[in-house]
Amino acid sequence: MHVTMKPLHTEKIGIMNNKKNQVRKAGDWSPLLKSDWKYVEKFNLDEFREPDWALLNSQRAEYLAEQIPEQVLALLKASKDVPSFGYAINNYEHCVQTAALLHQDNHDEEAIVTGLLHDVGFVVCPENHGRFAADLLRPYISEKNVWMLEHHEIFQRIHLHEFSNKSDPNWINERDRWRDHPFFEWTADFIEKYDIVAVNPNLAGTPIEIFEPMVQRVFSGTSK
Ligand SMILES: [Fe+2]
Ligand SMILES: [Fe+2]
Repeated sequence: MHVTMKPLHTEKIGIMNNKKNQVRKAGDWSPLLKSDWKYVEKFNLDEFREPDWALLNSQRAEYLAEQIPEQVLALLKASKDVPSFGYAINNYEHCVQTAALLHQDNHDEEAIVTGLLHDVGFVVCPENHGRFAADLLRPYISEKNVWMLEHHEIFQRIHLHEFSNKSDPNWINERDRWRDHPFFEWTADFIEKYDIVAVNPNLAGTPIEIFEPMVQRVFSGTSK
């Protein structure tokens, strides 16, 4: 087994990575999250054997618990200052505004975080961004909110007047297929009260920091 600690190396790279804009050189290793963790010193998965997988598994759970909420927030924040393609506010601001409106109406943390992340894939995965968010949040939120995310694009259609060439009433009213579904009302409400109105520059200004502890709690299963 070729699994050893590289404390000096880890320390060196850790310091290096704290310097922004530092270009990683060939031969540099990523720092480990914890100073007492170990690397699998192999560079082809074909060569990994049981002890290597065991090592990775032993470090993975702690890594994910800490990094999933952090990296999800980083994913959203990556578009903080990007330009808009025509809306008065960009997609990041739309997401924060949706969360702010849910918060203002005293929804629970799960609903607020669902709102914060409902369009996190809107630009990078436009055709399936509801499923993108649903898959991201599925392990941590209720079936009701997963269902809402998966169907929110269809439920939005009745509000998209004269949208493109989509004048087909079957397309516009497709949500009626689920008229008796237990999550119909919440999904319709979410769209009407917290999604289609969250494109307003006059409502901007809620800092995302308010929602960050909620993201941490939802992803750790400790939300209120
Ligand atoms: Fe959306
Ligand atoms: Fe949206």
